[in-house]
Amino acid sequence: MSTQDKIKNLIKVREEAYLGGGQKKIESQHSKGKLTARERIEELLDEGSFEEFDMFVTHRCTNFGMEKKKILGDGVVTGYGTIDNRKVFVFSQDFTVFGGSLSETFAQKICKIMDKAMEVGAPVIGINDSGGARIQEGVTSLAGYAEIFERNILASGVIPQISAIFGPCAGGAVYSPALTDFIMMTEDNSYMFVTGPKVVKTVTGEDITTEDLGGAKVHASKSGVSHFMVESENEGLMLIRKLLEYLPQNNLEDPIVTECTDPIDRMEDALNTMVPENPNIPYDMIDIIEALTDYGEFLEVHRNYAKNIITGFAKFHGQPVAIIANQPNYLAGVLDIDASRKAARFVRFADAFNIPIITLVDVPGFLPGSGQESGGIIIHGAKLMFAYGEATVPKITISIRKSYGGAHDVMSCKQLRGDLNYAWPSAEIAVMGAKGAIEVLEGRKLKEIESDEEREKFMAEKQEEYEKEFSNPYKAAALGYIDDVIEPRNTRFRICRGLDLLATKKVVNPPKKHSNIPL
Ligand code: HXC
Repeated sequence: MSTQDKIKNLIKVREEAYLGGGQKKIESQHSKGKLTARERIEELLDEGSFEEFDMFVTHRCTNFGMEKKKILGDGVVTGYGTIDNRKVFVFSQDFTVFGGSLSETFAQKICKIMDKAMEVGAPVIGINDSGGARIQEGVTSLAGYAEIFERNILASGVIPQISAIFGPCAGGAVYSPALTDFIMMTEDNSYMFVTGPKVVKTVTGEDITTEDLGGAKVHASKSGVSHFMVESENEGLMLIRKLLEYLPQNNLEDPIVTECTDPIDRMEDALNTMVPENPNIPYDMIDIIEALTDYGEFLEVHRNYAKNIITGFAKFHGQPVAIIANQPNYLAGVLDIDASRKAARFVRFADAFNIPIITLVDVPGFLPGSGQESGGIIIHGAKLMFAYGEATVPKITISIRKSYGGAHDVMSCKQLRGDLNYAWPSAEIAVMGAKGAIEVLEGRKLKEIESDEEREKFMAEKQEEYEKEFSNPYKAAALGYIDDVIEPRNTRFRICRGLDLLATKKVVNPPKKHSNIPL
């Protein structure tokens, strides 16, 4: 064969590989409203930046006549490219080839890019669309999964790992995404479960649809497994690009500070009136967040799960930050099991990747009740406390309204090494709300008063006395627990300045193998 013929042959073989499982399977993929593995990568990365690895890999299985069924690439497209000119590694499972099922060689391809990503310090994005372990291969496929799991674990906290679920993801296969930092699911075409509806029916007798068992809605709102739910793959791929804007390439780098034309001293007069006078009237904390951040932008994470706490990314004068905020609009912003777990994970992610944390506090306390206690609120609340207390990134806390009891301590208070703790004049930093406090302190007297009218009068007087003493930020400020009481409209300026001050912060925790966070 002449060199020219060899080159022609290469082009032909590449074209064959590009087709994956063939035109028919591609059409079937499209008919389900799904893109192919390669189309997804094209959409995700900067144009023309993708460099593919291992296009010529095929499986080594000889069971069930598999030696005659070899497809170039073996069901997963892997390689690297750029997003906004920053390196990323990608694997994209190809459902058109053996249902995207994972073989020994398929796993090796994924491991190769994960190893490279660790060596060069770049994020890994995994696009999942697979029938799980390649049934014909048996145990080598299980070993392949475990090789990936181990790499997910070692990469955790070193490079960002993002999982998109754009099709089936079932059985033990779910544990690779579960070990990564963020999971995204498409609303109609994706599902994740450890055991599918058929097994559920056999074992428990329960009749349940795929969607109700492990669809995007369930995982985005009930289980909290998924951080983002998107309507389409295109929306999801654009969201991954956006998410990466807030993240550094690895744990040894800082997130990139971008140009910003939104002035740091932009006064937001509306903030002075956003919090209702009556502490029992809710308001939407998102409005406050958007009034503070650059261009009012906020990328919310876990939007539909544990809505009583808000987590997400934003920028302050170009500096990416993680925002954690109680949401008075949902369950009065109370801390419960789900909210504590959600926020704790987010705080730890931010800390691992050098992203400063801004905490906006309006919390009436922990949710009371036997359900919460038997569900282990003690341990779960401790997670959030632990995460904040352990974090060494810059931490700026703004107490907006209620900051009561244990929840006050948990929400990045001064003694958990909050760097800058500011309060609005509307802040109430106390052991508990006035009404509850008086009911405890004056319980006996309240019982003794026979007339309702007199009891109410007594209650009102005592409440006023308590509020004067405790329902304000000045007691905490007098003790230095609050660094300053600030005008709400000036908050953006104070945060920007604080971030600037803390940019060179260096705090190191005591040396240890690892901490023992309450799990
Ligand atoms: C080999 C598989 C496969 C698998 C699908 N295919 N899953 N081949 N191993 N796990 C093949 C099918 O035979 C078919 O091949 C093609 O992929 C497309 O599959 P269809 O069934 O036609 O597609 P669809 O109707 O869309 O259904 C998709 C599906 C279904 C729901 C994923 O294929 C399915 O239930 N697959 C098996 C799922 C499963 O039980 N996997 C093992 C889980 S246990 P042809 O040649 O006909 O086109 C596991 C353990 C991991 O994963 C443990 C890790 C620790």
